Amino acid sequence: MLFGVDRSPSVRHFTEFLMFSLILYEPEIPPNTGNIIRLCANTGVSLHLVEPLGFELDEPRLKRAGLDYREFATVSTHASLGACLEVLGEPRVFALSTRGSARHDSPQYQQGDALLFGPETRGLPQPILDALPAEQRLRLPMRENSRSLNLSNSAAVVVYEAWRQLDFVGGH
Ligand SMILES: C[S@@+](CC[C@H](N)C(=O)[O-])C[C@H]1O[C@@H](n2cnc3c(N)ncnc32)[C@H](O)[C@@H]1O
Repeated sequence: MLFGVDRSPSVRHFTEFLMFSLILYEPEIPPNTGNIIRLCANTGVSLHLVEPLGFELDEPRLKRAGLDYREFATVSTHASLGACLEVLGEPRVFALSTRGSARHDSPQYQQGDALLFGPETRGLPQPILDALPAEQRLRLPMRENSRSLNLSNSAAVVVYEAWRQLDFVGGH
């Protein structure tokens, strides 16, 4: 099973054994998703891809970036964001956006939280951001007039901040 892809995941599977969920909304660039597969494999975070994807899951550039980590990562695809959140048991969602209003280290993260990231060229659609309270729309600080960070870099920063708050439980 490529990258452990599961098209019919059960709620129990994700909520009992994995700390956070990382959701990529319509990701476009294979190496970014490959890097994030590796991030998730190393931190015990489950990865959820919301379709349409800008690539096939057997894309060589995705496999190359995911290296030998695919057997350790739990990756699921979902037809919509709503379907993804339903499978996850309607978790608390933190959306990462350059248009976010709170700093990424301001929440008190909890096991089960979902971290939502937008597509590389477009970012998250405004209606998705508008549906969340201001304190759940997060922004990573950047220098003035900067445009945005790379998707996989921003995912790594936020996953490690959330895991740090849980004292890196399960890590060593
Ligand atoms: C390359 S960025 C998208 C750029 C897009 N033009 C925008 O302004 O949202 C891809 C994703 O990385 C995350 N990201 C990048 N820089 C960020 C920042 N400074 N704060 C929060 N999220 C960021 C967001 O989830 C974003 O949707």
